[in-house]
Amino acid sequence: MYKDSELALLGGQPLREQPFRVEPMVGTREEELVLAAIRECNFSRYIGSPNPSLEQHLRQTSAEAVKLEDYWHFLGGPNVREFASAFAAKIGAPFAIPVNSATSGISVALAAARVSAGDEVIVPAISYTASATAILMFNSIPVFADVDPLTFCLNPDAVEAAITPRTKAILVVHLVGNLANMEALGKIAKKHGLVIIEDAAQAPGAKWKGKYAGTLGDAGIFSFQQSKNIMTGEGGMIVTHNVEIARRARLIINHGEGVMSSEASARDLADIVGFNFRLPELCAAIGIAQLERMDEVNDWRSRNADTLRNGLANIPGIDLPPSLRAESNNEIVDVPHLFVALHNAETMGIDRDLFILALRAEGIPVGTGYARCMYENPLFLKKIAFGEEGSPWSDKAYNVDREYVPGLCPVAESLLYKKFLWFYHIAYPSTEEDMDDIVGAVRKVVDNRQALLKAKDILSAELGAYSQGRIGVDPKQLKTG
Ligand SMILES: Cc1ncc(COP(=O)(O)O)c(C=O)c1O
Repeated sequence: MYKDSELALLGGQPLREQPFRVEPMVGTREEELVLAAIRECNFSRYIGSPNPSLEQHLRQTSAEAVKLEDYWHFLGGPNVREFASAFAAKIGAPFAIPVNSATSGISVALAAARVSAGDEVIVPAISYTASATAILMFNSIPVFADVDPLTFCLNPDAVEAAITPRTKAILVVHLVGNLANMEALGKIAKKHGLVIIEDAAQAPGAKWKGKYAGTLGDAGIFSFQQSKNIMTGEGGMIVTHNVEIARRARLIINHGEGVMSSEASARDLADIVGFNFRLPELCAAIGIAQLERMDEVNDWRSRNADTLRNGLANIPGIDLPPSLRAESNNEIVDVPHLFVALHNAETMGIDRDLFILALRAEGIPVGTGYARCMYENPLFLKKIAFGEEGSPWSDKAYNVDREYVPGLCPVAESLLYKKFLWFYHIAYPSTEEDMDDIVGAVRKVVDNRQALLKAKDILSAELGAYSQGRIGVDPKQLKTG
């Protein structure tokens, strides 16, 4: 159909000139709740811990805490407590603790689970940087393990191989809404006595055999940053079944207040360095309304992902990882955060980065995912997390020569540097017609790849610049608001 059309990269007309729209689904419900909070002067309502029954309150489930007397605000004001209670009910965990970001949520959950200075935490090589840096917050040590080539989540064999006597936890990331193999990871954790924390920032609503992502380990974390499936501007949530983790997390996000009771032992107090990681009331008001839309926004993304999956099937050089839902007979329900296809240079006959350049010229915002494996960030390569002396790796609590070097996780490197094609715009308000444009542009480039190959030398400067400074997406192709 597109054979012999001139590619935009070679001077032809782009298949699409209109930018893709990027905006969260919000409406009158969010407006009403935020306005009500403003009118009631309800912005934080946080009150420290003057209450003698603090310990008892800390142990209440989120559903119980929402019914606390109105003046008692250690666990948050009315919107924060209602959001927590509704989220806990939706996700199927007794405790939900709102926080100001997923990044702080990961640090808090690890510390609440007593993962301490010098303890190793296994984390996948591919994720948003926060998944690894949050581990450093309490001086624990990230250990990177390779990922599965089809789910992009932790490969259980690689996890098993990365375990040392210092390993204390596995930070599982459910990347792009896919689910990690929780059965295999659960068995490994049990065998070695490890804590499992799930980073479900990109997977709210995904399910493993009837249970929601985030409730399959010891604690789960969600992000409500604006780009996420449901959002509060900035924000996050910790969920857990474990009353001790909930209790400690509630203290850590509230300055550690209340822990200084005379009966508390050093072990009770360890890692309870208090911060202010609270979610503001206005954000929680938005969160209540967003949670009501969670299934709708997830269905929106899934519908568009299905359209792309069907449209991109059987295009030479575009490999599609099998759908987790179809493969598992709906036992595993992924919630696509964005759509990932895999470039196959051998079949297509052109390199991935040249293909991306040509597709972008057609007006399609496509990227390679993250710029590099997390261990290839200078923070890890140079071990300069806290000053130039190598802390926390060189600290007394650890003092191990842990190597972070290119080549550590070959599957992750091959995905990031050769295969990933991330299509970002499957969320509301993108429509089926938008997906048709993506498919059309892919076909146009693939149909005319011989012309692209012939012009490869002319394009080499542009290609070099792109490959060097590989970024997620060209901001010019996005329209906000
Ligand atoms: C997998 C993952 N973990 C953690 C985070 C951090 O979330 P936040 O921005 O809420 O701190 C993100 C954000 O993009 C993420 O994608």
